[in-house]
Amino acid sequence: MPTFKKLDDLGDIAGKVALVRVDFNLPMQDGAVTEDTRVRAAAPTILELSARGAKVLLLAHFGRPKGARVPDQSLSLVLGAVEKVLGKEVMFVPEVAGDVVKQAVGILGPGDIALLENTRFWPGEEKNDPELVKAIAANADFYVNDAFSAAHRAHATTEGLAHVLPAYAGRSMQAELEALEKALGNPVKPVAAVVGGAKVSSKLDVLKHLVSRVDHLIIGGGMANTFLAANGIDVGKSLCEHDLADTAREILANADASGCIVHLPYEVVVSKEFAANPPSLRTCNVHEVAADEMILDVGPAAVEALADALKTCRTLVWNGPLGAFETPPFDAATVALAKIAAALTADGSLVSVAGGGDTVAALHHAGVAQDFSYISTAGGAFLEWMEGRELPGVKALEV
Ligand code: 3PG
Repeated sequence: MPTFKKLDDLGDIAGKVALVRVDFNLPMQDGAVTEDTRVRAAAPTILELSARGAKVLLLAHFGRPKGARVPDQSLSLVLGAVEKVLGKEVMFVPEVAGDVVKQAVGILGPGDIALLENTRFWPGEEKNDPELVKAIAANADFYVNDAFSAAHRAHATTEGLAHVLPAYAGRSMQAELEALEKALGNPVKPVAAVVGGAKVSSKLDVLKHLVSRVDHLIIGGGMANTFLAANGIDVGKSLCEHDLADTAREILANADASGCIVHLPYEVVVSKEFAANPPSLRTCNVHEVAADEMILDVGPAAVEALADALKTCRTLVWNGPLGAFETPPFDAATVALAKIAAALTADGSLVSVAGGGDTVAALHHAGVAQDFSYISTAGGAFLEWMEGRELPGVKALEV
């Protein structure tokens, strides 16, 4: 695993100014934050730096304002949620650089915390403009990146700053990198991956990368239909990307050549309409799907077979649900397999790592999120990592 400096490598930081990149891109409804997981993830780093006497300047983006000051994307809107999680007063500074930040630093005492304005209000952020990087860095002594979920962006505050200031991985970034290393970088074998979700097209690169890295690839969700159809199975009116049949066959052939066993559902839950508990619901062999039916979940016998495969594995990486889990009873396969993975993790026989918005929601729904070895708060960054791509924000921290 590449090495990077951690908070343990910082010397005496009392009175020093820390720029801490966090991900406070939080879901909001009617002006209120609805979910604060990302703030809780960054809290240990912020509170540690504060306890060690640093003046902490928090940098974050919020939405995609594209270089303009958009009032309803001001980070001042999340200030209350941040103060609540940290249990401390946080000063809001409506700039990221220049005299206003300099004055704020003068007012802050050791251990005090300030939240700077949405970094994406400045066009230089997304362009990774060296002038903006220099201006932000001018008010600080060192830089900490605790935003793995934004590390797939090569922006001024996610990448550029690491080159001009002494740079450290925060506690959440460190935990994320260590967990991901255990999951795919240097995993205990055999390794299983669950990849689900609606469309193959959104996860082609993930699948292509995984077939050469894992021993078992479990494909679920709508994307499994594309593979079934590519194998000549009639999937009725299921969601299916028929135009990707050749690509799906190529992925299956590569898996075969690499000794990766691909698990596609042989038993499925189908219905004539996509609705909660529909009257036409039935479970059947995958070869018996009628022309007017759609596949909406993996059947219980097929889930048991997946559980048997999982029991032979030591590492699991999971992205995407197995069925249309938001609509009952098509959550059944995801919930059942998640519970099995959680139990194997509790037994100590499996390291389980999951990530991606839908996946985390599905594992919470199954009531097992806390039982996985590690749950990533990242969406796009987690997918890019699963594609085997280098994340610029992580790369810049390497020493
Ligand atoms: C996220 O919410 O996944 C991250 O904050 C990245 O946001 P972005 O996709 O707008 O760069």
